[in-house]
This record gives sequence, C-alpha cells and structure tokens, in this order.
Amino acid sequence: MPIMTPEPAPTVAQLLAFYLEAGVDCALMDEPVNRLSDPDPAPAREPAEAPQRALPASMQPATPPRPPAKIEVLPEVAIAAAREAARTAPTLEALRTLLETFEGCALKNTATRLVFSDGNPAAKIMFVGEAPGRDEDIEGLPFVGRSGKLLDLMMKAIGLDRSQVYIANVIPWRPPGNRTPTPQETQICLPFIQRQIELVNPDILVTLGNPSTQTLLQTKDGIMKSRGRWVDYDTGTRNIRAIASFHPAYLLRSPGYKRMAWVDMRSIAKAMAALAERAV
Ligand code: URA
Repeated sequence: MPIMTPEPAPTVAQLLAFYLEAGVDCALMDEPVNRLSDPDPAPAREPAEAPQRALPASMQPATPPRPPAKIEVLPEVAIAAAREAARTAPTLEALRTLLETFEGCALKNTATRLVFSDGNPAAKIMFVGEAPGRDEDIEGLPFVGRSGKLLDLMMKAIGLDRSQVYIANVIPWRPPGNRTPTPQETQICLPFIQRQIELVNPDILVTLGNPSTQTLLQTKDGIMKSRGRWVDYDTGTRNIRAIASFHPAYLLRSPGYKRMAWVDMRSIAKAMAALAERAV
C-alpha cells in the first residue's frame, strides 16, 4: 500500500491567493466569524428531578450578553423610506448626507464607502452606470477602474472631460463581489438617483448599460435595441433628452461593439452642439 504523505499546510500567501481567486476580495468585519459553531445552543433540558432552589442573583454564573437582534427592514418599508428621504433632500450635499445615514439598503453594510458622484454638479450632461466595482469602492468615486478609463476615452473623443460632465450610479454602494444588485436593492436606491438627476438638472442624460437603462428609462428592451435612441426623461420638474449606450465594461469584453458606441457618442456630441447653439 502506498504511504500517503500529508499535504503541507498552505502558507498565508497561498490562502489569500485562493480567496482572491474565489472572489473574496474584501473583509466584512474585523474579526472572523465561525459560522460552523452553534449560533444558538439548545435551551437546557427541564430538570428530571426536583428543581434546585434558585441561587441569589449575586451568585448566578455570569451569562454572556446576547448580541442585539438584527432588525431587518422590510423592502417595502425601505423603498417608502427612500422615497420620502430622497424627496426632502434640497441639495446634492443634503442628498449625499442622507445616503450616508440611510439604513434601508443592506449593500451599505458590505461596501467600504458610499460612491456618490464625480464631475461637475453644474454639468449639462450626466452619465449613470449600474453600481460601483472594487476600485470605485476603494476610492469612493464612480468609474475610476478599467471601465472608467474607457469611459474617459469615450468622453474625450467628443471633447468632454470630467469637469464638464456629472457621473453617478443607480446603486451607490458596491455589491459584494460585484454581484448583480437584486431588484429590491435597485428599487430601494432608485428614488435617490432619480432625485440626484433632478438636482443636477442636466439637459442630457446618458444611461450606460442595460441595468441603468432599464431602471431609469423604464424599458424592458435589451441594450442592443435601446441604445442610440433618444427618449424623453421626466426629472420631476421638466423633460430632458436621454439616450442609452453600452456600458464600458461590456465594451472591454466585447470590443466589436465600440463602433456602435462611437455612433452613440457622436449623436450625444451633436445634441450637445445643438443645445449650445440654442443657448447663444
Ligand atoms: N461600473 C459601473 O456601473 N459603475 C462604476 O462606477 C464602475 C463600474
């Protein structure tokens, strides 16, 4: 019989590399939690014999305090709270502060920080993506990773930089491991981005990718159909022009669609030129 030699224990570096490959790239708490340990030990059985007399309080063995029960916010309650809160924010700064203290979206608990916006709040054009990724979560700014670099290039191609645009996401917290936000998370965050658009009050809204387009422009069409089409968007105070285009992350995966994205960018540049002409 062959002699089995035990595998050497992995080094910390190997373990971390394993976790990273499995998508575990952020810590949720300072201390690890052993989820295999019994979280709620079964209550002590009834004594079979006559109960012993209770010890005086001063002699009772100390029992560790139970952690407070986690209060789950019902999605409908969170959505209603988000609507009410967002409606009352008079400025972008007030809206940011509201989001910092809003407890209705669990994504906040796993994200490092709020990713509110970048760019110029007085911009005439606003770009809205889906949700922050890892780089955005670290920096606290939208579109600063690889797809952000491509977005910068796309904007540059029509003469724009971040000082002339305003950038935000439908979801302002990074979903753990970049998973797709749930419909409930999206509905909870929707009133905030809608109010953000209303407060920025751009002339042109550009939704990047399917989730942002379907959520904000209220269409079920996929991006292949919805992109490049001008539609009206009601900010709550006026109608503005809106257009969908590909998400830069999608273009990084499928560069063949860059040609169509370029058509969309040219259409955006034309609309901006027409606006500028009307303004003089
Ligand atoms: N993808 C998004 O949708 N938004 C970001 O901010 C970054 C990547």
